Amino acid sequence: MKGVLLAGGTGSRLFPLTRITNKHLLPIGDRPMVSYGIEALVTAGISELMLVTGGTHAGEFLRLLSNGREYGLDLLVYGYQERPGGIAEALGLAQHFADGESVCVMLADNIFERSIGPSIEAFRQQGSGARVLLSEIEDEEHLRHLGVPALTPDGRLERIVEKPTDPPSSYCVTGVYLYDASVFEVIPTLVPSHRGELEISDVNNHFIEAGEMSYDVIGGFWGDAGESIEAYYAVNDFVRRNGANHC
Ligand code: DAU
Repeated sequence: MKGVLLAGGTGSRLFPLTRITNKHLLPIGDRPMVSYGIEALVTAGISELMLVTGGTHAGEFLRLLSNGREYGLDLLVYGYQERPGGIAEALGLAQHFADGESVCVMLADNIFERSIGPSIEAFRQQGSGARVLLSEIEDEEHLRHLGVPALTPDGRLERIVEKPTDPPSSYCVTGVYLYDASVFEVIPTLVPSHRGELEISDVNNHFIEAGEMSYDVIGGFWGDAGESIEAYYAVNDFVRRNGANHC
């Protein structure tokens, strides 16, 4: 399985912090945000990674990460997204890198207290289709800014609603997605959403409709450090006190 870490986008919700750098290069605790995603994937057994970024600060990732060896990677390649056309569009750039293998896709602004390794192992056992990681969120207002799953009473995943005004459950879809190689046939069939992006929730709904989607509810802290300046500091406070990616 190969890793794909997505670090593009405009970071507009963190303006003005992101006027002069890429969001994923901002500090969390004592190191740049992007390094937590790499650590999450490497400690879960992924050794080949494609980092996709865009915008005017792409070269700084190369200066920070070099060939990835220092971070435990055997191979680190870079993809450049020419405009922020959405998470699914950014993932599409990894098709040749994936070369027919499954992928573990991670949004580089997501921080997990606990290792994502058990979910990656569960997907290896699953063998095909897709798998998402859910986190329980009590605050309904918070859910309105995320992808939210609708679940049947017996816990079956019915669909995912992106940024719902009326959240259908108290879980969010975190930014870790596991797919078999058929995901690269799904992406070209997507239609841009009202915000002009190819949405990862549309990819996930495709797998749900095909009956090929599983999920895990993760424990421990999960945070999206790119959601707002407040969220950025909340994630920072957590990581400074407790660390991240604990096995
Ligand atoms: O954090 C979890 C949430 O991430 C999920 O609950 C949502 O379902 C999912 O759509 C996503 O929502 P966001 O609104 O947080 O997505 P955002 O546009 O902030 O992009 C998240 C990351 O994806 C960001 O760190 C960089 C990367 N990205 C984003 C876009 C739009 C790219 O690499 N390229 C892009 O064009």
